[in-house]
Amino acid sequence: MADELKRGLEGVLVAESDLSYVDGEVGKLVYRGYDIEDLARGASYEEVLYLLWHGSLPSAAELDSFAADLAAEREVADDVIETVRALADAGERPMAALRTATSMLSAYDPDGESDDDGEATLRQGRRITAKIPTVLAAFERVRQGEEPVAPDPDLSHAGNFLYMLTGTEPDAVSEETFDMALTLHADHGLNASTFTAMVIGSTMADVYSGVTGGIGALSGPLHGGANQDVMEVLHEIDASAKDPVEWVKDRQDDGGRIPGFGHRVYKVKDPRAKILEEKLRDLSESSGDTKWLDYTTAIEEYLTDQGLVEKGIAPNVDFYSGSVYDSLGIPVDMYTPIFAMSRVGGWIAHVAEYQEDNRLIRPRARYTGPEDAEFVPVDER
Ligand SMILES: CC(C)(COP(=O)(O)OP(=O)(O)OC[C@H]1O[C@@H](n2cnc3c(N)ncnc32)[C@H](O)[C@@H]1OP(=O)(O)O)[C@@H](O)C(=O)NCCC(=O)NCCS
Repeated sequence: MADELKRGLEGVLVAESDLSYVDGEVGKLVYRGYDIEDLARGASYEEVLYLLWHGSLPSAAELDSFAADLAAEREVADDVIETVRALADAGERPMAALRTATSMLSAYDPDGESDDDGEATLRQGRRITAKIPTVLAAFERVRQGEEPVAPDPDLSHAGNFLYMLTGTEPDAVSEETFDMALTLHADHGLNASTFTAMVIGSTMADVYSGVTGGIGALSGPLHGGANQDVMEVLHEIDASAKDPVEWVKDRQDDGGRIPGFGHRVYKVKDPRAKILEEKLRDLSESSGDTKWLDYTTAIEEYLTDQGLVEKGIAPNVDFYSGSVYDSLGIPVDMYTPIFAMSRVGGWIAHVAEYQEDNRLIRPRARYTGPEDAEFVPVDER
């Protein structure tokens, strides 16, 4: 019915898309038909970007050339690094710093305003995707009083980010783990940040505007911010020496939500959470430090016993991603920026796809304000 109100656009279909499908009832996610589990275990993030942007998995030669083109775009203008320094000095939050720096990147894009065809969107998108890790790693290093590390075009997208962050080439397990996390977060239907980027793209604004808007949407605690909340909770539990289940009970008594649980679409455990849980198990067992695994397992078991999971409030991707990032030595407030570093691939794919058959996105609100109000000039009020 045309006038039916759907708060939060829940369940509303606004576009057709070949990119990703989320089956929330059975807990399945596919990118262009490929199961997320196969991609996470078998494909690199670069392969997944190619799949999302170009429609099929690349041949080995196509992948080599695509990855080299992406790696060649990693450097950012000195002025952007200076801005990143100024933002770090001002104590800016990482997502806000990323939003500002991403917006600034457009000034140095050789395509300039010529962004009205799909090829230009993908070219610009490639540059943004390549440069975001450089911006993020520089921000983190400057904040820690260290100099930024220049990108290494011989390293993978995942490996180069960890290298720029720490100044040391990552070991194979860290690189593979981080690459898997990037693949898992690359796309997820019309989530809030992707839809934001699409709304902006539907006005035929440039792709920098769409990505900058997407970063803003992702920064909120109901969307990308939840992975940080989970890790903060785990640290809080640790610092208080409280039993994790006691912490959950206290949170529930206060009427609070459990971060990392619940999802607008998934009514069962998020398939990405399952893969990350397995990864966390491997990492914990090989390092011998099972603290975060023990806490998360205890919380999940308790909430399952309580029937919360059966009611459809099940662990989502954020419940495990934080612990995995922690094992890689990544600071907590970089988790959401890292999510952006991956999801930018999905934002660009959706903007490019939508613009192929563009229609301005412009819904309506049901007006509930007063009618026929009589205007009184200000000096008579
Ligand atoms: C993700 C989220 C915003 C989806 O929310 P939504 O689809 O709008 O669902 P609602 O907020 O309407 O919640 C539906 C019911 O589940 C409950 N619920 C949802 N998430 C919950 C959580 N994490 N802990 C406890 N209860 C939760 C709500 O209290 C509500 O209960 P009620 O009907 O008795 O009032 C929500 O689950 C949430 O806030 N989760 C925590 C944050 C998070 O992990 N976000 C990352 C998502 S990937």
